[in-house]
This record gives sequence, C-alpha cells and structure tokens, in this order.
Amino acid sequence: MEGKFSIRNILGRARPVSPADRSVLPDGLSRYKDKITTPENALSMIKSGDRIFLGTGCATPRTLALALENLDKVLDDVQIYHFLVQGAIPMHAGALQTRFFHKAFFVDNDMREIIKQGKGDYIPISIAHVPHLVKKGVFAADAALIQVTMPDKHGFVSLGVSADVTHSFIQQARTVIAELNPNMPRTCGDTYLSMDKIDKAVVVDEPVLEYMYPPIDDAVAEHIARNVARLIDNGSTLQVGLGRIPNEMLRYIDGRRDLGIHSDVICDSIVDLIERGIITGQAKSIHRGQIVTSYCLGTQRLYDLIDNNPLFAFHPIEYVCDPAVISKNNKMVSVTQAQAVDLMGQVCSDQFGGEFYGGVSAKLDFMRGAANSPGGKPIICLASTTENGKESRIRHLLREGEGVTIPRSDVHYVITEYGTAYLFGKSIREKALALIEIAHPSFRAELLDEARRMGYVREGQDLKCKIGDTHPCRYPDQEERDYTLKNGSNVVIRPSRASDVRGLQEIFYQLPPEDVYTRFFSGLKSLSVSQAEHLCNVDYDKEMAFVVTHGERENEKIIGSSFYVVDPSNNMADVAYMILHEWQGLGLGTMLQHRMAKFAQSKGVKGFTADILVGNPTMLKLAQKCGKMTTKIVEDAYEVEMLFD
Ligand SMILES: CC(C)(COP(=O)(O)OP(=O)(O)OC[C@H]1O[C@@H](n2cnc3c(N)ncnc32)[C@H](O)[C@@H]1OP(=O)(O)O)[C@@H](O)C(=O)NCCC(=O)NCCS
Repeated sequence: MEGKFSIRNILGRARPVSPADRSVLPDGLSRYKDKITTPENALSMIKSGDRIFLGTGCATPRTLALALENLDKVLDDVQIYHFLVQGAIPMHAGALQTRFFHKAFFVDNDMREIIKQGKGDYIPISIAHVPHLVKKGVFAADAALIQVTMPDKHGFVSLGVSADVTHSFIQQARTVIAELNPNMPRTCGDTYLSMDKIDKAVVVDEPVLEYMYPPIDDAVAEHIARNVARLIDNGSTLQVGLGRIPNEMLRYIDGRRDLGIHSDVICDSIVDLIERGIITGQAKSIHRGQIVTSYCLGTQRLYDLIDNNPLFAFHPIEYVCDPAVISKNNKMVSVTQAQAVDLMGQVCSDQFGGEFYGGVSAKLDFMRGAANSPGGKPIICLASTTENGKESRIRHLLREGEGVTIPRSDVHYVITEYGTAYLFGKSIREKALALIEIAHPSFRAELLDEARRMGYVREGQDLKCKIGDTHPCRYPDQEERDYTLKNGSNVVIRPSRASDVRGLQEIFYQLPPEDVYTRFFSGLKSLSVSQAEHLCNVDYDKEMAFVVTHGERENEKIIGSSFYVVDPSNNMADVAYMILHEWQGLGLGTMLQHRMAKFAQSKGVKGFTADILVGNPTMLKLAQKCGKMTTKIVEDAYEVEMLFD
C-alpha cells in the first residue's frame, strides 16, 4: 500500500456536543440517549484478558482506540484484532507505543513497526475467511470498537466507509462500542445496524480520515498501467486492489464502455470514470448498474459521492470476496500488484526482503473468481525491478522472507513494463521463459542461467532478448494490432516471443507439402525446437518476427508468422512468411508484410529481399506491394529486392 492517510482532524479529541449541534440524536430516539457517553465511560467495561476488534481503514475509531490506550486502569494481556487501521496507536517521543498486543490481518506502516517491537503478529489469511473464523470463535472479540454514522430517524446507523470484517465482529462481539460521526457517509447495501445492537456510543464530530495515492510520475509505472489497461474490454467488471499501479491503470481505459466494479475496496480512482460515463455497470451480470464493494479508502470527493447513493452497494467482505460470487460477473478482471514473482510463477505480494507489506487480503479469492468468470482475466502486475533498479522483482527463487501469496497454479497474466506473460496451463519451462522475457533486460541473462541450472529449461536454451541494457530488446508491445479480416474473424498481429515455439511447430505440421516447399525450398519433414526457435526467438532489432493469433488471448492459436534478419553488409532484411492454408487469401500476408515493413523502416532498414519460387504467384504479388521491386531469376526462383519508398 503506497498511498497516504491524511488525518485532518486532531487525533483522540472528541468535540463536546452542544445541544444545537447536528451531532445530537434525531427526535424520537431519546430511548438511546443513555448509551451516549464519554470514551472513558464507554470503555469502562474493558478488562484484562479481553479481545477487542478495531474497525477498519478510514473508519478506524481513533478516538476510542487512543482513549483505550490512555485508560487509567490495569489492562493486562489485552489483544486487539484488526484489518488495516490508521491512527489507532499513539506516538510518544517519536515512536509508536501501545500497551496491547495486536493481531493484524494486514501490515501497514504502523503495524510493521509494532511487529518489530514484538507487540504484534501478522495473520496471513484471506480476509474473506476471517468472518468464518469469527463465527467459529477463533477470532472472538469481547468488544468491537467501530466508527459509524449518526442514527437515522428509525434508529439505524450505517457502517459508512467500512463494512468489510466489521460486520462479522459486530454480530459476534459481547459488547459493541461505536463512535457516531455525523461526517461519516451513509452507505447503501448491507451496512445498517440498529442502535439496539450498540451498547455504548460516543459522538465524534470530525472529518473522516482521507486516503490518497500520490500521482505516479515514473515512466515504468505508466508503462505497466498501460499494459494492464490494454487487456480490459468493454463490459468488463473490475476489481482494483490497493496499490498504485492498479489504480493508475484506470487512467488509461479511456474509450471503454460500460465497465463495472466488483471490488473488495474502492478508491478515488473510480470517481472520474463514473463521471465520464465509462463505469456504468450496465453490462454487469450480477448487481447490474451497481458498484459493489466492501470498504473504501478515499478523499472527501469519494465520500460525497457514496453518501446515500444507491449506485454503491457495500456488503460484508465474505460476500464481496467469495470466489463463487466474483465468478458470476462476466468478464471479471482482477488486478493485483505483487512484490516479487519467481520463475515458476509463484507470487509474493505481502512480504518483501523479509518485511511484511499489506496482506493476503482477498487477492487469491479474486484471482480464482476472475479465472472462473466467463471471459475473466486474473492479472498480476509489478515493476521489473526495485525502485533503485538494483534488484529484479522477477527472481529465480523467492527469497527467505518472501512467502507465496498466490500459488503458481493460480497465476494467469503477469505484467511488467516489458510486456505480458500468460502462464496458466503452461509448463515450468514455458512459464520461466515467458517470465524472463518480461524481466528487466539487465537481469535476463542471469535469470536464464539460473533457469538452466535448476533444470527449468534445457541446457542449450538461449534467449535473444537477454542482451544487456544498451540493447533495445524490450518486447515491442506497441507493435501489437487487432484486425478484422474479410471473413469477419478477429485476429491479433503481435511480435513473436521465444515461448511461441510450439505454436510455430503446430503451424508447420499443418502446412500442405506445397506450402512447406514454397516456404523452406525443400520437402522438410519436421521443424525442430531449435529451428522453430530461430523463427520466433528474436532480438527485436536485427531480427524481427511477428505472429498472427486467433482466439482468446488465454488460448490463442498461432495461424501465421513472419520473420526477417538484417544483412549488415547492405542493410536489407531477408523476409519469409507462412500462413495456415485455411487462413490464406484473407489479406493476412499483406497485413504481416505491412507490420514488418513499418517496423523495419523504424529501424532504418532499407528494404526487403526474398527468394520466391517461380510457382509462388501469391508471394510475388505480396512482394510487389512492398515498394520498388526488382527481380532476378536464378534457376527456379526469383531473387527479389523490395526497396521501401
Ligand atoms: C505467401 C503467403 C504468405 C501469402 O499470404 P496470404 O495471407 O494468402 O496473402 P494475402 O491474402 O494478403 O494475399 C496477397 C495477395 O496475393 C493475391 N493472391 C492470393 N492467392 C493468389 C494466387 N493463388 N495467385 C495469385 N495471387 C494470389 C491476393 O489476391 C493478394 O493480392 P491483392 O491484395 O492485390 O488481392 C501465403 O500464401 C503462404 O503462407 N504461403 C505458403 C508459404 C509461402 O509461400 N511463403 C512465402 C515464402 S517467402
């Protein structure tokens, strides 16, 4: 979590309530007036050995939490359960000091410090499972301390910005003590609580804590955000977890229509998209037209929007994050930011370099829910290196102090600023290669060595794109294009990857003998791995290859390929193409040639050369379209030269 909480109000000081104050109980609720008291009185029933739950995020009851720390009585062995909380632990002489032991489902800056002090534990658990353990009594609380709205005229408060696990602790706790805050937005959904359920209350008329992400100004994050955004189709429903990159990604989904939100948490990043009519929820397959969430971390802008607004439905965390519910959303896209990924695709996202950051949250639940949703996409994103560029976040092995948050068997898309790797259903070798290809270039050689050493890839496996920093070996994702063919089929033409070997072999084995002959000038009977590798494992500079794919990205089938290699003596590139027989004559050859020529021109290449058999009129026709063509017959073939205009 790289965002910042801003505490505009003065911590721990409840303002006295005057009779004219909007924070008095509405008429007709005088029966509850005895519940309203001071923080110290409200907390007087807390005793040694108690377990206490503290409300979440921007609804952390800070006045109560700090009053509890300052209570003038012996309170031994009190344990405090919480998810992410803010402003709950007092500072003394520049250091956090708590008299209690904290059991946290999430590690923010304060908790990291408290754990180091030996005053807290991190519980790595899916946050969606916490309510089940609360029900079973595993996480039982003697008191739940929460922050809610003022009651309405019927005597109901709303849980405001945080329904999450608060809901379950309220149901179970022996005592419920609430801060009633007239500034807390009244949220719709399953957030209402009768004052009958609240045992004691204090009125705290103070602004709600705000949370914001600093704007991203580095090119790496922007590049990743753009790569993620490209996978989002019209009508998708999004889960955007905490993290700068997923939230930044929302800035790049301009032009999409009818997006929806079903997310454990929402932040300010969705507000613009709602205002611009991009998020409408109209294509959602459940909760149509509604933004479904469990808690929000935002600024007053978001709070004003969610206040009394039935567009938003806040539900308990165990509902919002239930993979079965998530998967009922068509085209569910879940975006999770990771700390590190190893070459088998194991993802660590709650620890780094031995320290805990964030939590398991509902990451795995959303990965699985999105994976089972029709057209869904579970996405992991991360920068290829640490901020100083000294360490690769794609590692041959996760390190000591980096636990697996998402197992390799659940990982689908992994995205860095160097491109997208699709890992689901792939072998260890394929996963390792795909991940090395999106690692930072200066770490690729080392990662490949390690992959060979560990037996993940074969001994002779090489990667052209592994050359160091100075070489322009970034996967040129900007060269990817979608096309609709004459027959109405949609295809993608994209630069090839080393992991396309099998796809190329499959094309080869489907080519009729005459096409094998026109392509390879021989009756080649097989295309070995190293021959296929030669056609797709390129350096994106002196060698270039594109493939044409058809079908969903997760299950794409390669139906055509092109390849060139530059002759440094004359700066001309020798080209070759092959298209599956049933896809020929639809313009694919022309499109591939166009993509290749554009790319070659951008690299300063002068033109193409090709050897074309006399009996290959299609290829000859293709060559004529490329530029100024000259031909020379040598035996049964033309030596063709095509100079770019
Ligand atoms: C050569 C090849 C790549 C062309 O791909 P393609 O997708 O069929 O090409 P297109 O559909 O873009 O057609 C290219 C042009 O050839 C024309 N064409 C198609 N079939 C033709 C034929 N049998 N005779 C003459 N022209 C033909 C098309 O009409 C088109 O010209 P137009 O745009 O002016 O109408 C493809 O046929 C192939 O893979 N062949 C087998 C392997 C091979 O020969 N590779 C080339 C070795 S370098």
